[in-house]
Amino acid sequence: MKIISDPFMLKEHLKKSNKSIGFVPTMGALHEGHISLIKKARQENEIVVVSIFVNPTQFLAGEDLERYPKKDDADKKICELAGVDILFFPSIENIYTKDEAKVCAPNLRGYVLEGASRPGHFSGVLTVVMKLLHIVSPARAYFGKKDAQQLNLISLMVKQFFMDVQIVPVDIVRDSDGLALSSRNVYLSKTQRAEALKIPKSLYAASKLISKNIFDAQKIKEEICSILDPLEIEYVEVLSRDFTAIEKVEIGNTIILVEVLVGKTRLLDNIWL
Ligand code: PAF
Repeated sequence: MKIISDPFMLKEHLKKSNKSIGFVPTMGALHEGHISLIKKARQENEIVVVSIFVNPTQFLAGEDLERYPKKDDADKKICELAGVDILFFPSIENIYTKDEAKVCAPNLRGYVLEGASRPGHFSGVLTVVMKLLHIVSPARAYFGKKDAQQLNLISLMVKQFFMDVQIVPVDIVRDSDGLALSSRNVYLSKTQRAEALKIPKSLYAASKLISKNIFDAQKIKEEICSILDPLEIEYVEVLSRDFTAIEKVEIGNTIILVEVLVGKTRLLDNIWL
């Protein structure tokens, strides 16, 4: 596995290879969820590139940028074992200069749900993803369905900017207790982790209702909220897959999304129906 920090060197290197590239952008602290993205990229492409870059522009003031988990040595090992060809490991200076052009998240879709509690977050995500996609020029880029709004906004950006890359959504990976894997789960104490299990439990209850032909979005939201109680709910939404509100679940075109604060840790989860 080659480790490259300089974007221009990486571009040169990839240009010469003339092979199909699968790209997995990450912020490190890799877990099984990332490994499933890498595995899928490995199956579908000749070269797999993973980036590890904790992107400062997607953190708001007072968020966890300074304490975001860092596991560089373990991450390199994981990438090597998972069959990554190139690890792109840039510094902040490799990616950002002063006074730059930026991508702005769309006014409506970028400032609801997670974008409402973290205004500006998605502009930071889109800016760095735009930069990374231009550096790597992959045929396919892989993103987890857990960050469903991020996935939706990146897919929209790629379409709206006429970019030649296929965005591939990859299923959520869960721990054996049901909690969706996230690098931020390490912040949870034992008690908080036990409380957080209400999240997958609530989504499971929602899918049970739907299996009994209860499709009413309001009823489903109420069921989820009653199970999450007394956790601090940021939102519970039943949306179509293009992220518009719906009154009734439509099988094949619905996402149920939950965001909850457990202590100071923001946890996202969702199910795609
Ligand atoms: O999902 C993430 O880890 C990040 O938001 C991403 C897509 C790597 C951009 O920094």
